[in-house]
Amino acid sequence: MMQAPTLRTERLTLRPFTPGDAPAVQQSCSQYEIARNTLMIPHPYPEGAAAEWIAKHQADFDENRVVHFAIDDGALVGAMGLVLKGDGIGEIGYWIGVPQWGRGYASEAALAVLRYGFEERGLHRVFAAHYKRNPASGRVMQKIGMTYEGTLRQHLLKWGEYVDLVFYGILRDEWLARNDR
Ligand SMILES: CC(C)(COP(=O)(O)OP(=O)(O)OC[C@H]1O[C@@H](n2cnc3c(N)ncnc32)[C@H](O)[C@@H]1OP(=O)(O)O)[C@@H](O)C(=O)NCCC(=O)NCCS
Repeated sequence: MMQAPTLRTERLTLRPFTPGDAPAVQQSCSQYEIARNTLMIPHPYPEGAAAEWIAKHQADFDENRVVHFAIDDGALVGAMGLVLKGDGIGEIGYWIGVPQWGRGYASEAALAVLRYGFEERGLHRVFAAHYKRNPASGRVMQKIGMTYEGTLRQHLLKWGEYVDLVFYGILRDEWLARNDR
């Protein structure tokens, strides 16, 4: 059985989640600040949801749906997923635990996942989307070299409120033209 790869950056290891990560994931995902700006994390976060989520990762990898990465700086600090949409298109999504915000971790991890997507998976395009009210995530997308592509107005109903969704993307040629890759 093939496992998702482990990627290393200056400060971080991006590795597969293990069942032992469940308590840390449970704690982070239970935080309002994380749930509020992500698509898929319910609030309140149900008991046992982290363990259930981690248990699905191997099948997601085997069936080329999502490559999940635990972001680890010695302890678990966040999660990043590369969703494989087919036809060489990937989408990244992520969260970093609130105590670790503002250290550049999301940008450092996202750059490694872009590299994996383009160089190991041969992707043609990688995009990401954030709620307009969450500019810190847009800043991460800018810092990894993505281009603003547009805003879908009131495109999602999040907790009873229609929210604008802001899209960023980077194409394979743009990645290959970088000198810091
Ligand atoms: C968005 C998130 C992943 C950022 O993680 P992080 O590790 O703190 O990100 P980084 O430190 O790499 O970069 C954050 C950037 O946003 C900037 N920023 C922070 N708050 C901001 C705000 N309110 N407005 C604009 N920029 C902001 C920071 O200054 C930094 O940019 P800089 O390096 O140019 O100073 C993290 O806040 C998070 O997990 N939020 C909740 C979940 C979420 O939003 N996930 C993304 C869904 S699309």
